[in-house]
Amino acid sequence: QQRFSSSWRRDEPAPPFAFAFDIDGVLLHVAKPIPGATETLRFLNESNIPFILLTNGGGKREADRVQDLSEKLGVYLTTDNFVQSHTPFKQLVDGPESLRNKTILVTGSDYEKCRAIAKSYGFQNVVTPADILAAHPSIFPFRPVTDILATAQPLPKPLFNTTSTTRLEEALKIDAMFVFDDPRDWAADVQLITDLLLSRNGYLGTYSALNGNETLPSCGWQQDGQPPLYFSNGDLLWSATYHLPRFGQGAFQATVAGVWHRVTGGHELQRRVIGKPQAETYEYAERVLGVHRHDILRSKGFHEPGTLKAVYMVGDNPESDIAGANGHVSENGTQWTSVLVKTGVWSEERGGEKALQGRLKPKVIVADVKEAVKWALVQEG
Ligand code: G3P
Ligand code: MG
Repeated sequence: QQRFSSSWRRDEPAPPFAFAFDIDGVLLHVAKPIPGATETLRFLNESNIPFILLTNGGGKREADRVQDLSEKLGVYLTTDNFVQSHTPFKQLVDGPESLRNKTILVTGSDYEKCRAIAKSYGFQNVVTPADILAAHPSIFPFRPVTDILATAQPLPKPLFNTTSTTRLEEALKIDAMFVFDDPRDWAADVQLITDLLLSRNGYLGTYSALNGNETLPSCGWQQDGQPPLYFSNGDLLWSATYHLPRFGQGAFQATVAGVWHRVTGGHELQRRVIGKPQAETYEYAERVLGVHRHDILRSKGFHEPGTLKAVYMVGDNPESDIAGANGHVSENGTQWTSVLVKTGVWSEERGGEKALQGRLKPKVIVADVKEAVKWALVQEG
């Protein structure tokens, strides 16, 4: 049981490097810690070496997920060193698009939790598919897979073209759509998302301004005020407790895109996807890591943490963790190094090294997170 062989003392310059750890397939298989994970994070905490958790997972408020992770891993964690897939959506509340007071539709694994997360970010008017289905059951003629209606809240405005109103200005308008984490009721979610993509200006119950026998709206699909569609990550696969990878939100996204392709006679779904490997997610993560590293090292007695020269990104999914770290160009000159572990999505049997070409090629492949940290410490001397 080889121990780690490094630690940073206060009378030395602060460590110029830090770690970013993926969660699913690196630290946990859902609720079960992966061997070595707890020991590794505890070592880093005790050795004054900063790290953040950077996950495409989501569906809970940051504080709730961090508490859950701290309990599962038996390691002290805070929201200061935690970035989950939908965390960057916060930037849309008061950003250039300023969605704070607009009406957004959110979906994900638990509609009520997604609504609570969106509200905690500052979105004021949040509608879920449950609200719509409860108000107008005929909009989705099948029984929902889960008992989602229990979470329904009254719609802020009635749907167009119903007994409540036939005047657009009085009707419910959705200004943006967000998928916060892996949806459960795909059929209902795909139906409502597609209805809105086909709508006039986001008024549910309307149809794009198709003129006469034209096969597409006068200004083209999704060009006529339809609400933008945001996905919090594009993971086709992720590593859960089953021994083979499972479908993630990327599979749901492919379903929406496939239905849209059929409905529009061949058009590519326009969407905005954040999460790993997207550049803005790594830029956001580096900012969070920089602040956290500065705070944690000062709290541990290092008066001048100095600049962060290197980040070791430890992941299990080449498409998200490895590609993101390889592609990230730091505005501070910080060098991100990708380290692939064998405990998650990728394995020698499933794809092997021939699947790791180009942007998917890690700097090194190691057995697990503990070996990843040991390898990095050797690089840092
Ligand atoms: O939903 C979780 C999945 O997308 C992957 O999460 O922690 O491996 O980025 P993670
Ligand atoms: Mg993972």
